[in-house]
Amino acid sequence: MLYLHTKNSSYIINIKPYGKLEQVYYGKRIKEDDNISLPSQSNDPPHSVLYQQDCFDTLERISQEYGENGKGDFRESGIFIFTDKSQTTDFCYKSHKFYSGKNPHQTMPTADENCETLEITLFDDHLNLELVLYYHSYYDVDVIARSAKLVNKSQQSVTIDRMMSLCLDLDDDDYNLISFEGSWANEMHKKEQPITTGIYTIDSKVGTSSNRHNPCVILKQSQATEDFGNCYAFNLIYSGNHAEIIERSPFNYIRFLTGINPYGFNFDLVPQQEFHTPEAVMSFSHNGLNGTSKNMHNFINNHIVPKEFAYKDRPILINNWEATYFDFDKPTLLQLAKEAKDTGVELFVLDDGWFGNRSSDKAGLGDWVENKDKLCGTMKELAEDINNIGLSFGLWFEPEMVNQDSQLYKKNPHWVMANGKMSAGRNQFILDLCNSDVRDYIVDSVSTVLKNANIEYVKWDMNRNFSDVFSASVNNQGEVCHRYVMGLYDIYKRLTTQFPKVLFEGCSAGGNRFDLGIMCFMPQIWASDDTDAVERVRIQKSVSYGYPQSVCSAHVSACPNHQTMRTTQIEARFNIAAFGVLGYELDLTKLPQIEKDIVKEQIAFYKENRATLLYGDMYRLQASSEQRTVCAVVSKDLSTGFIGDFYTLQSPNPFKNKIITKYLCDNKYYNISARKQYFIYENEKVVLPTENYCGFGDGLNYKGFVLNNQHIGKLAENTRTLCDFGSRLYNLDGAEK
Ligand code: DGJ
Repeated sequence: MLYLHTKNSSYIINIKPYGKLEQVYYGKRIKEDDNISLPSQSNDPPHSVLYQQDCFDTLERISQEYGENGKGDFRESGIFIFTDKSQTTDFCYKSHKFYSGKNPHQTMPTADENCETLEITLFDDHLNLELVLYYHSYYDVDVIARSAKLVNKSQQSVTIDRMMSLCLDLDDDDYNLISFEGSWANEMHKKEQPITTGIYTIDSKVGTSSNRHNPCVILKQSQATEDFGNCYAFNLIYSGNHAEIIERSPFNYIRFLTGINPYGFNFDLVPQQEFHTPEAVMSFSHNGLNGTSKNMHNFINNHIVPKEFAYKDRPILINNWEATYFDFDKPTLLQLAKEAKDTGVELFVLDDGWFGNRSSDKAGLGDWVENKDKLCGTMKELAEDINNIGLSFGLWFEPEMVNQDSQLYKKNPHWVMANGKMSAGRNQFILDLCNSDVRDYIVDSVSTVLKNANIEYVKWDMNRNFSDVFSASVNNQGEVCHRYVMGLYDIYKRLTTQFPKVLFEGCSAGGNRFDLGIMCFMPQIWASDDTDAVERVRIQKSVSYGYPQSVCSAHVSACPNHQTMRTTQIEARFNIAAFGVLGYELDLTKLPQIEKDIVKEQIAFYKENRATLLYGDMYRLQASSEQRTVCAVVSKDLSTGFIGDFYTLQSPNPFKNKIITKYLCDNKYYNISARKQYFIYENEKVVLPTENYCGFGDGLNYKGFVLNNQHIGKLAENTRTLCDFGSRLYNLDGAEK
């Protein structure tokens, strides 16, 4: 029996006498016991395939460690290989070893090396193929990372048709599936559904991890809640086409698989070559969805994001995109920067439109040379001017793309990923990152810009989905999408190694590539092009199931909002942005003075509490109605924190509202006060009534506290005023008493 433990979970594998690996248990931590009851198969189940003549085991009724094809397990398999000899594989146990850390076996990004590893080697004697299964246990955060490697030890090439990163068979069958679905500016709709008989796939075929279906998925016991019950959260350290396959077999076994999407994929493995899957991660908690979220948050902060940026403050930025779009010149930018500096902003980000012939989205992509007319000089000079105002300077790129109307396309039309008539998206085409010349060009052109000016931040955008998938530099076209992702990681690695201090932010038309692969290089990602305060509450709440606040950029923008045309108070826009990496993306030069003054106070508040807001433990709290979302962040030492109370539509004279906190220190006494917040009413700035509550942590955690009555016709002491889409932030201040 092989045991793998994290602080609160155990994973147990049994080696069958005939060499197959049986998944015995994954769940709450238990003691090691080789007599743990295993399903016995002492008779010959009718109409089944026995693994071998002299034993009664039929593989479809045993939980498998890595399901295979052709030996009687008819469920979706972890691996599928075609060779001249067969399409059946039969990998059997050869050896295993435990060690600390990781062998540097991966060419792709992975979680860091602070882990304990179990490595199991299996062999198929008939095909002469070796399969190595890796299990990396991140003890402190209750996460296990898994991957698989295939080594071709035969004399013939083999074709991998499918090779998943993780296969998990669950003992019980009463699970619901939670996934996050969406589209552009409409990302992360949380969906929950029971797992019924059959096969259900969540996947991406768009080339990136996609806003259609995020690779983070959760299996929860049907009765589990935010705080109770068994939940398994999964994710993949990969930024391309992925698939999460869930099968409930006729015998009520549930199998979960995640990895590179087998759709449109195959990979030729020549003799002696190896193929390694991306790493998948899984976390178990029996404390409900907040339990798995907390594990994943800590895992990402501790083991995924680059060390240079882990637990570091993130600069508050102003981005000129929604302020100017393509229509800017140097004086406009400097004016915006001055206003931003005045409010307390720390970083100025120049978005799309600074290069080549880029005055709209029809031209210029690929030509990463500053447009001196528009910038009235060089990038170096602009950066200096911004620095002289007192802000650091950052720049937008979209290096994976080219417009036909560009110098790059004129010179190298064959660099586009296409073969024949091309479909377009936003007037742009995808460069073939499988081609090393293309990668060299991207690295050279981006690094030339970064070397020549004081640029401390890069926003790396990617604004279209794949079509016409083809690469002239790859023999097997089934490998192109995967090799593209490998090419992208090669570029990221070279640039982030060359510029280790530059903060890279990922972006793909918002959240079209919001995944752990990107986070290994870029510690923050623009979660959505939707900056509407109400939409952002939903999006960021969904993000919180799998990702911490520190990776999720969130901007305060203008109203009416550019995506929804909705008008919300500037304080509501801030309150939700404060639960992420704060930025502003609006024309501050046009903002009325009263709102500018409010922004100043918001920024001062965020700076003072940045560490807790970014790195405190985040929980979703119980909300009394569909019109409300409540969440909290609490510092690791439980001494301080914030509660966000977000509403959509209001009704007059509403029912009482209560907040029940979680995980506060039972013995600490907490003073709870609403952040000083304004309400703009008939162009006047009105201060909302103060709110103060208090109590011992245990009382707040179990009984909760009742909020003041909501506005009932007039502004008065001891009432709360929340217009439609209103929200409040409460500060928790705890001390021993
Ligand atoms: C899409 C991004 O998500 C936006 O924030 C902005 O950078 C535009 N691209 C610029 O073209």
